Amino acid sequence: MKILAFAGSNSSKSINKDLVEYTTTFFKGDIIEILDLNDYEMPLFSSDRVARNGIHQLALEFAGKIDESDLLIISLAEHNGSYSVAFKNIFDWISRMPNRKAFGNKPMLLMAASPGGRGGATVLEMAKKTLPYFGGKVTETFSLPGFYENFDHVKGITNEDLKLELQNKTQVVKGKILQELLHPNLN
Ligand SMILES: Cc1cc2nc3c(=O)[nH]c(=O)nc-3n(C[C@H](O)[C@H](O)[C@H](O)COP(=O)(O)O)c2cc1C
Repeated sequence: MKILAFAGSNSSKSINKDLVEYTTTFFKGDIIEILDLNDYEMPLFSSDRVARNGIHQLALEFAGKIDESDLLIISLAEHNGSYSVAFKNIFDWISRMPNRKAFGNKPMLLMAASPGGRGGATVLEMAKKTLPYFGGKVTETFSLPGFYENFDHVKGITNEDLKLELQNKTQVVKGKILQELLHPNLN
């Protein structure tokens, strides 16, 4: 299967990108593409811009990547209890393309990591509740709190319970997607 993975962050030191990259290692044998939101930086979304110039080319390209994939692995940075501007801007741009839902009705492994104790719980909860309205089929969620205590750049997640939780969730996601690919009309 084809996996599209990205962090909801434009930080060059993004801990969510670290988590995304680590998570893709559980998907051996799959085709994996990891995007950097910096490569999709666009002017701030505005309806006036859309009316003047249409949907930005980078948004079209980003949506194309989503449409080609079987699974989205996303880890959201929490900024003031919400999405980072980098993620929200792309979200808004792709949400105004005619005849499609922003996330293309793709299954999602939705995650969040933070240095603090809540693991981005606020943005994760909001995304879990609302992304289904925008074509995101949230298959599993995972939160990584205390990033700097629980993650090592070589070993990945060092907290055994959290590592096992993520490992199990990736298995569940794989199982559900393979079932859907084999039997597309069951759901
Ligand atoms: C503007 C801003 C707002 C933030 N707001 C929150 C917040 O509401 N909750 C939280 O847990 N962390 C917050 N943080 C800390 C982020 O979780 C931390 O910067 C994290 O590294 C962001 O993920 P990233 O490294 O993938 O960009 C905020 C950071 C910034 C720069």
